[in-house]
Amino acid sequence: MNVYGKHYRTIWVKEDDPAVIRIIDQRPLPHQFVIEDLTTVDDVARAIKDMHVRGAGLIGAAAGYGMYLAARHAPQSSAAFTEALLAAGETLQATRPTAVNLEWAVQRQLTAIAGAGDDVGAKIEAAFSAAQAIADEDAEFCRRIGEHGVSLLEEISKRKGGKAVNILTHCNAGWLAFVDYGTATAPVYVAHNRGIKVHVWVDETRPRNQGARLTAWELGRHGVPHTVIVDNAGGHLMQHGLVDMVITGTDRTLYTGDVANKIGTYLKALAAKDNGIPFYVALPSSTFDWNLRDGVAEIPIEQRDAAEVKTIAGLRDGAIKSVLLTPPDSPAANYAFDVTPARLVTALITERGICPATEAGVLGLYPEKRPA
Ligand code: MRU
Repeated sequence: MNVYGKHYRTIWVKEDDPAVIRIIDQRPLPHQFVIEDLTTVDDVARAIKDMHVRGAGLIGAAAGYGMYLAARHAPQSSAAFTEALLAAGETLQATRPTAVNLEWAVQRQLTAIAGAGDDVGAKIEAAFSAAQAIADEDAEFCRRIGEHGVSLLEEISKRKGGKAVNILTHCNAGWLAFVDYGTATAPVYVAHNRGIKVHVWVDETRPRNQGARLTAWELGRHGVPHTVIVDNAGGHLMQHGLVDMVITGTDRTLYTGDVANKIGTYLKALAAKDNGIPFYVALPSSTFDWNLRDGVAEIPIEQRDAAEVKTIAGLRDGAIKSVLLTPPDSPAANYAFDVTPARLVTALITERGICPATEAGVLGLYPEKRPA
């Protein structure tokens, strides 16, 4: 995606120094555009945990590069190298529990490194190639999600005689949450680029305001009409015919169709069901969990620091400042994700096409995942 006229991915290898991984630090957005250098696996782990980088696909790509940096700094003897890489994988996996891309990327790296023979130089090369492949694949799969998903918007646009299609989205599942293109908003960008009239209702997404800060910024830079709303407005808008469809991203979707996404997604799905509005979830295959069956019972839900609920940050007098919202001594709980059961999801939009949010639907698109 372009930022102020220049193409950026959210993570990349520094042009003249392969020992440095660069990221867009998402914390000061939309007020400041800051690029940060990461040189060790601990840098990457901190960047994921403290949400300099965030979003399922980007967390996966960051973990891939984290393993590559770990390989560069690991001891040269084969046994100690392997031990160091296993420890690095554990460090990365411990940062955030819900997005399955993290674990997927670490395992993919461990397989690539193990398959590269005993020579440490070859193992570092393999880790580099795997990290690049994870990032490239993420961008390409998101691009395809946009191409598949746009058909849904085209259909609604036709039905409305060319009037703007109103899409509601939650959190940020745009290009900032991936390496490029994004998921939930990818079809919106494609539609907009094709001249289809669109308008996006952007849930602010408390407590970290990924919608108000990041989705709104992305859409605005691309010239896509949008309106930021408080998280509780969606139901009202749906009752009044102001939402044609909901599209969200996901941090983990089970092959049975249950969807984990940013806290508040479930309530939007309930409201959509009650109002007969289609509720779509867009994801690349790296976000499928092929093991768990029951989302509510089994998906680990991250709980973050209460300070994120008790405070809010914004621009004042040219600087980003945080203010306290609650009585200082009131406890707060910060559940970061919830699970939307498959029965509330109209369909999944993937890089291979659109399918029902059911085991048969998902395995129909990914037959290689069928149990032997
Ligand atoms: O806590 P975050 O910002 O990492 O949350 C993840 C998300 O970006 C959203 O839940 C998003 O909708 C999922 S798609 C990457």
